[in-house]
Amino acid sequence: MVNLKGKVAIVTGAGHGIGREIALSLAKAGADLVITDLSDSIFEVSKQIEALGSKTLPVKCDVSNMEQAEQARDTVLAKFDKVDILVNNAGIYPQKAFLEMTNEDWSKVLHTNLDGVFHCTKVVLPLMIKQKYGKIVNLASVAGAVVGFTNLAHYSASKAAIAGFTKSLALEMAPHKININAVAPGPIDVGDTQMEEAMYEQVIKTIPIGRMGKPLDIANLVLFLVDDASNFITGQCIVCDGGYTLP
Ligand SMILES: NC(=O)c1ccc[n+]([C@@H]2O[C@H](COP(=O)([O-])OP(=O)(O)OC[C@H]3O[C@@H](n4cnc5c(N)ncnc54)[C@H](O)[C@@H]3O)[C@@H](O)[C@H]2O)c1
Repeated sequence: MVNLKGKVAIVTGAGHGIGREIALSLAKAGADLVITDLSDSIFEVSKQIEALGSKTLPVKCDVSNMEQAEQARDTVLAKFDKVDILVNNAGIYPQKAFLEMTNEDWSKVLHTNLDGVFHCTKVVLPLMIKQKYGKIVNLASVAGAVVGFTNLAHYSASKAAIAGFTKSLALEMAPHKININAVAPGPIDVGDTQMEEAMYEQVIKTIPIGRMGKPLDIANLVLFLVDDASNFITGQCIVCDGGYTLP
């Protein structure tokens, strides 16, 4: 059993899907949780976390905006005096054929998915360095980090960049006893898929384990990566995809 009692964790994009499940899993393991999102849904998630017996602080924050990330850090420090764990989860994946992609489409995805990771990591790292302890997990994707996907050139670029960022920053931060890893999920069912049933069945046929991933599959991996059981793992991008990218 992972025991995170006494640890303070921040999860970005925790209002829905994988981020919400990660936040709930960390709370079940005993961590106190700062949950951030653009959406008001964090207030509902916050109630669920309190019901699990953990302290929680919901903070509205657009990760693509550095000033908002700094304000969020200050709000966190007013309630908790430290940050032990950061999960950079917030991300968007709008599909667009490259020939139709505008500069705005490209920038929105890169600002949210990549700059968001830079901003949140930048504001939190000095606190971790001071305490000589920290665990950072970045959400990459098999798209870009492992294989290509049509209509997702912007998204794939952002996620491949996250894998590279993770490796390089892990090197710089290893002397400070800060572990930085990424996880690369395959197709995960976050509950409100717009996919038609026939298409959904088609996707399942491409997953050797024979089902879509669940947010809990990713949360379980994140839980391992923030636990001291994984202290000797850093700079890795770990695929969790039911074998989807094996063939
Ligand atoms: N679902 C999948 O199949 C899958 C596969 C691989 C990787 N991922 C990655 O996992 C992460 C979570 O994906 P998900 O499927 O749970 O997504 P989701 O859409 O269900 O949830 C993402 C959350 O992030 C929030 N968010 C979006 N932009 C934000 C911003 N600028 N600032 C703060 N919050 C913001 C949204 O409001 C939402 O609550 C993403 O980084 C995504 O790229 C997902």
